[in-house]
Amino acid sequence: MNASLSAVAAESTSADDVIEARIAELVGQMTLDEKIGQMVQTHYPGEVSAEMADAVAAGRIGSLLNVVDADVANELQRIATDESRLGIPLLLARDVIHGFRTVLPIPLGQAATWNPDLVERGTRIAALEAARAGVNWALAPMIDISRDPRWGRIAESFGEDPYLTSRFAVAMVEGFQGDDLSAPGTIAACAKHFAGYGASEAGRDYNTTNIPENELRNVHLPPFKAAVDAGVTTLMTSFSDLNGVPASGNRFLMQEVLRDEWGFDGFVVSDWDSIDQLTDHGFAAGFRDAARKAVTAGVNMEMVSRTYADHLAQLVEDGEIAIERVDQLVGEILRIKLRLGLFENPYTEPGDFPESGNDDHLAVAREAALQSLVLLQNVGNVLPLDVRGLDSIAVIGPLSDDPYEQLGTWIFDGDPGLSQTPLQAIRTFVGDRAEIKYVRALETSRSRDTAGFSEALEAARSSDAVVLFLGEESILSGEAHSRANIDLPGAQVELVRELRSAGKPVIAFILAGRPLTIENVLQEVDALVFAWHPGTMGGPAIADVLFGIESPSGKLPVTFPRVVGQIPIYYAQKNTGKPATPETYVHLDDLPVRGAQAAFGMTSHHLDAGYTPLFAFGYGLSYTEFTYSDIELSRSTLGMADSLTVQAVVTNSGEVAAEEVVQLYIRDLVGDVTRPVKELKGFKRIRLQPGESRTLSFELTGVDLAFYGQDMELMTEPGDFHVWIGGSSDAGLQSSFTLVDD
Ligand code: BGC
Repeated sequence: MNASLSAVAAESTSADDVIEARIAELVGQMTLDEKIGQMVQTHYPGEVSAEMADAVAAGRIGSLLNVVDADVANELQRIATDESRLGIPLLLARDVIHGFRTVLPIPLGQAATWNPDLVERGTRIAALEAARAGVNWALAPMIDISRDPRWGRIAESFGEDPYLTSRFAVAMVEGFQGDDLSAPGTIAACAKHFAGYGASEAGRDYNTTNIPENELRNVHLPPFKAAVDAGVTTLMTSFSDLNGVPASGNRFLMQEVLRDEWGFDGFVVSDWDSIDQLTDHGFAAGFRDAARKAVTAGVNMEMVSRTYADHLAQLVEDGEIAIERVDQLVGEILRIKLRLGLFENPYTEPGDFPESGNDDHLAVAREAALQSLVLLQNVGNVLPLDVRGLDSIAVIGPLSDDPYEQLGTWIFDGDPGLSQTPLQAIRTFVGDRAEIKYVRALETSRSRDTAGFSEALEAARSSDAVVLFLGEESILSGEAHSRANIDLPGAQVELVRELRSAGKPVIAFILAGRPLTIENVLQEVDALVFAWHPGTMGGPAIADVLFGIESPSGKLPVTFPRVVGQIPIYYAQKNTGKPATPETYVHLDDLPVRGAQAAFGMTSHHLDAGYTPLFAFGYGLSYTEFTYSDIELSRSTLGMADSLTVQAVVTNSGEVAAEEVVQLYIRDLVGDVTRPVKELKGFKRIRLQPGESRTLSFELTGVDLAFYGQDMELMTEPGDFHVWIGGSSDAGLQSSFTLVDD
């Protein structure tokens, strides 16, 4: 180590030492009630009642949820630090899920950017806007792996893949927490929901999950490990039960994995009432038992329910919980308060921050929305529209001009007044160059009243192109908003069919919180862009793509099923013993009556849906064509300590400049446990001019090839691998290599 590095190391060690000494000193001074107070998080009901002020002054509240007014935040911090005996500041938590005042695309849309740097920048803005309002703890990122689009909270996730989600987990943690947690404008992050919540049965929110430990470790836990390695300060438990043990009482997760294996030294907060709900799960016999189980398992802070406040002191007095356990859990909370620098300065000074919703913030929101747009179909290159060739454009649909609905789920602090809608942006772009005929046609995405159809059809007939804005309102996704049928709701499909009869080019933008089953819509439109809920700046981003100012460049972070019955369907599936192929797949219409049971397609597929999804993970078209060539490996045999370079040439062989997300996948052909048929291991977003070629290289080492085997240990196993570089999980150039013992 050189001199300056060792100086830095010495300095950071001593900063840690100071914090540890202060924790010991504080815990040593605290009464049992004060300790329990730190473990209590209360919901802020909208005013500081005398009762709440007393509780803060008495040290009976460690954290408040949902204070978003700087004056209130500062007053509460003043009471906590000036009036409480030990002057311990409060953690002020808020669900800062995808922006604050300025709303970024929903996380699933952000994942479609495949651009962690951009997501980090967006999160940075959210952190600044939230910190300005006094928030010092964001209850995000949500990094549950979700392979079920019925689940409403898939909107809040980064989709189906552990590697992609891990990259975004790190991006968001770094965006919130920055390099220096105590700097103004950096706030604590919270990786949630630990763990397995995304696997809720049938996509019904809050439901049971049964995840074998091997799958838990290979699929669901990696993003949490990545967040912990990136220094995330807090984790939140899940509402769900995992293999029979509810997450808020799950010692395996919180003690064995999180603390013992990963060395996490921050703290865990329960989800809203989830300790109390241990009784509903049938896991605790009453609230006292629930508190005992949660404390024993390792939940430091209880969100909203009051089992700790009401029972922990007695549990300690009765010897059922050791005081050392309480001290440890409280110490972990204090550690984060100290690292945040709250003891030095608990206050926010809004004047020190940029205005929320300023032009710089809107520019980042626009870029994120732009990069999140995924072009799924473009028959005859109907997109982009050249406004010079058009006299009039029909803009139709319930989501064309709705400043609120384009923001998506979890936008408590979002300002619909800042929203720029697609219709507004189209009008601004087109000016007086063409006539815009706007018809909402359906009041909401769920409307069945078709009274507006004739006006819409008339507008379509008398225009040169039809641009539709369809999808789901915000309220149809998010927490507790799961759907069993994920078709376009209401009479939207009928609307598309009706408009098709006008004989004009039809372009659909779908704004939604989840993948939808849209095969029936694809047949009726020329072009389709999936826009997720794109946030404040959705309109301008959409107009840029519609008129070809920019090419779409988003890629799907989650597989789109053809029909609900295919769920779960995801790219990293196992091969099975009887994989389907184009030759062995059979459709039920082709089965002869009384055909022999074994004569046709004895492979893994659905007779009525095949075995492929509608759109694969990683898929997304562009206005240009990207050609992949010359895949090369730096070596064909890789020792455990070696690194391998995989490269390919990507050429923009079309006519416009555009961005492409180049993806690297591997397959481990034989494993101690069966391995997925493809696994994402790297990606890069690049911009190429027409005719430009670039060689992209990715490094792979033994660590990248490791997985959890039968004995639940991370292992790197010698053997043969395939590797692909391409623009989607279902395309790409293939090569292979062998991993050997050194
Ligand atoms: C959600 C959490 C959220 C919490 C606080 C719960 O219902 O599951 O994700 O952070 O509420 O609002």
